Amino acid sequence: MLPLPLLLLFPFLALGFLLSSSASAQVPPFAMTPCRSYCGNITVDYPFALRPGCGHPGFRELLFCINGVLMLHIPSGSYRVLDLDYAYRGLTLHDPDMSTCRALVRPPVRGGSAGNGFVLEPWRAPYLEPAPDNVFLLLGCAGGSPLFQGFPGKHLPCREVAGMGCEGYYGCPAWEGAMGLRGWRGGPGSSPSPYGEANPPACCGVPYGAIRGINLTRLACEGYSSAYGLAPVRARGGALDWSYGIRVGYSVPGEHEEACRGCETTGGACGHDEEARPLCLCPTWNSTSNCDASLAGGDDHGVLHQVQGNVAVEVLGDGEEGVPDP
Ligand SMILES: *[C@@H]1O[C@H](CO)[C@@H](O)[C@H](O)[C@H]1NC(C)=O
Ligand SMILES: *[C@@H]1O[C@H](CO)[C@@H](O)[C@H](O)[C@H]1NC(C)=O
Ligand SMILES: *[C@@H]1O[C@H](CO)[C@@H](O)[C@H](O)[C@H]1NC(C)=O
Repeated sequence: MLPLPLLLLFPFLALGFLLSSSASAQVPPFAMTPCRSYCGNITVDYPFALRPGCGHPGFRELLFCINGVLMLHIPSGSYRVLDLDYAYRGLTLHDPDMSTCRALVRPPVRGGSAGNGFVLEPWRAPYLEPAPDNVFLLLGCAGGSPLFQGFPGKHLPCREVAGMGCEGYYGCPAWEGAMGLRGWRGGPGSSPSPYGEANPPACCGVPYGAIRGINLTRLACEGYSSAYGLAPVRARGGALDWSYGIRVGYSVPGEHEEACRGCETTGGACGHDEEARPLCLCPTWNSTSNCDASLAGGDDHGVLHQVQGNVAVEVLGDGEEGVPDP
């Protein structure tokens, strides 16, 4: 509901739009989107950004556009972004060194792991997290891996996630001929239990939430695969029909979203300053709330509304707009 003073002003606002309608045919109002950009065919918009100072601070220094390819950088490595889904608040990532149903990617001969895994900066945890229906299939983990500590020879921490797990994954063509090859202990033929130092399972499926941070070095695994289901997965093709990649959900604190809406509807773009405090980037200045807020900073006094440059009206407002907290 609009506050009463605003309702009373509607005739004036309408007059302002009428008077300026010829101008607005060329320049639509609130057209300032200096922070929206494109990389290949992917639209990058709030809370994400490619330009420094744009977007929500939780997503700063995260995405980069390299030769038309959108890349996400986190401590575990760089991933190609295949999709940014604003409606479902998700990103779909691809790691070229990750195993799929068609190919097991082997670790370098000198040891180490194949692929990035997934490790975020701890401060990003409130903003980004692999989806609960994304399964990480950890491959060739050592018997002494922290994965298996505290589960002495009994039950595995490994499990199915959203109907996807190692049992299904072992059916992939990638495993044909993989048994007995150097570097892969166990295999689909070896019994998954009992296991121990000498006989860990070749694959262990976990959701991200169970271990928070897929650090292949720390987990002593030689590689990984990751799959997500777009719908309840019981497809006929089994693991061949899973989507391989990392599905990550994102979120923005509610009060920041409200403040950003206020900023955008007054013609600004949502950004942040160098100390990562949210800012509203207005056409000629930066506001801590929105582009209608008085320059003098007296948010609970009159706010000068400039309507299309034709009609200026004084609104004795109560400063209802959400003001982002630093
Ligand atoms: C972008 O283009 C690729 C093919 O070039 C297509 O597979 C993909 O679905 C497109 N992505 C979007 C978000 O339109
Ligand atoms: C507003 O903030 C942005 C992002 O921090 C900065 O790049 C820009 O220079 C600022 N503009 C003004 C007018 O202060
Ligand atoms: C992964 O774990 C190793 C060993 O504990 C550590 O040295 C490394 O910094 C970790 N990597 C990331 C990206 O956190």
